[in-house]
Amino acid sequence: MASCMASSLFQKHLLLLIALPIVISSSPALRCHDSIISFGDSLADTGNLLHISRSEGRPTHAGFLPYGETYFRRPTGRFSDGRLVIDFVAEWLGLPYVAPYYGDDGGRSAADFGKGVNFAVAGATALDAGFFEGRGMGNSVPNESLGVQLGLFKELLPSLCDTSSDCKEFLGKSLVLLGEIGGNDYNYPFFMGSHLEEIQDLVPLVLEEIVSAISELIDLGAETILVPGNFPIGCLPAYLTEFQSSDKEEYDPSTGCLNWLNEFSQYHNEQLQRKLNHLRELHPQANIIYIDYYNAALRFYESPDKFGFDGGILRACCGGGGTYNYNSSALCNSNARVCDDPSAYASWDGIHFTEAAYRWIFKSMADGSCTVPKLDISCPSLAFE
Ligand SMILES: *[C@@H]1O[C@H](CO)[C@@H](O)[C@H](O)[C@H]1NC(C)=O
Ligand SMILES: *[C@@H]1O[C@H](CO)[C@@H](O)[C@H](O)[C@H]1NC(C)=O
Repeated sequence: MASCMASSLFQKHLLLLIALPIVISSSPALRCHDSIISFGDSLADTGNLLHISRSEGRPTHAGFLPYGETYFRRPTGRFSDGRLVIDFVAEWLGLPYVAPYYGDDGGRSAADFGKGVNFAVAGATALDAGFFEGRGMGNSVPNESLGVQLGLFKELLPSLCDTSSDCKEFLGKSLVLLGEIGGNDYNYPFFMGSHLEEIQDLVPLVLEEIVSAISELIDLGAETILVPGNFPIGCLPAYLTEFQSSDKEEYDPSTGCLNWLNEFSQYHNEQLQRKLNHLRELHPQANIIYIDYYNAALRFYESPDKFGFDGGILRACCGGGGTYNYNSSALCNSNARVCDDPSAYASWDGIHFTEAAYRWIFKSMADGSCTVPKLDISCPSLAFE
């Protein structure tokens, strides 16, 4: 049962409030923001891995069509057919798409980062890569952990502002997107066959990294930090394929998702929210907002028709065939089976979502229905499409 507060009545009410210049004053206000600073993984990567992988001569598969076919009409390194949540946030705030730190096709320089910079790298983990190396998973984990990303940001910061108080002001006026991060810390061991108990033991370590990054950003001057939780991984074609079971009891009869995997995501999310509560007590001036990605996405599986997902909600739009159109040896690429209409699918490539799904997730965040506390909109330039 999805528990985001969304209801069509609420959304109409909110639209009305936006149409009229009325300010909602009961919850912390999301101010006008001059820039977006983002940390994370493939859910928010706007081109970093593509740039890194190209410079290493082995471009990621997200550097080829059909990636990007719907919106940018070319592959940008985003792991989707079009825009990601971070892109919709940028449009919403009237800011340019957040520039990938490592550079994009246009070869951006630091001067362009005043309105936003994105450190998110596909495959990145919250825990340092060395942690996984010690556990025999080193080859697959990029050295782009949350700590590494934060270190790069601290190196860059002096080029974006002058004095320390200047920098505090700059960061105070920035919207910080912290995550989603941590999903890969679990993905790698899940797909390498680690036991659930071992993976559960990682949760407090992952959260420690997230908490320490938030604390550091607040010390640097951050005032508004959005922290998404994890998605219902038991509904993703990659997990459904890898952990396919003949035991019907393992599946939720109403959605077809794997219960034990969704319970794991919920466990991470509950623990994350506890940590965020504690951080709010320590930093009452900061606006720490949890984004409930789990329930925002679970609604797709509970009532796909409401979202126009009539292509087969548990199947990927682009993949190597099979029950869920996902095959880890034949990932989404130009030779894959690509659906005609990606907007009829929630899953793009079996792991990542379609632009259509990301847009719904963005909406449930922007209207405050899937955020804690409720996201408030008081910036006059903000407008829904
Ligand atoms: C990751 O990169 C940093 C430098 O950016 C280096 O100090 C560290 O040893 C690297 N870690 C691994 C596991 O390669
Ligand atoms: C997955 O793809 C590989 C490589 O194309 C192929 O050999 C294999 O049969 C596929 N597996 C399934 C279950 O379709």
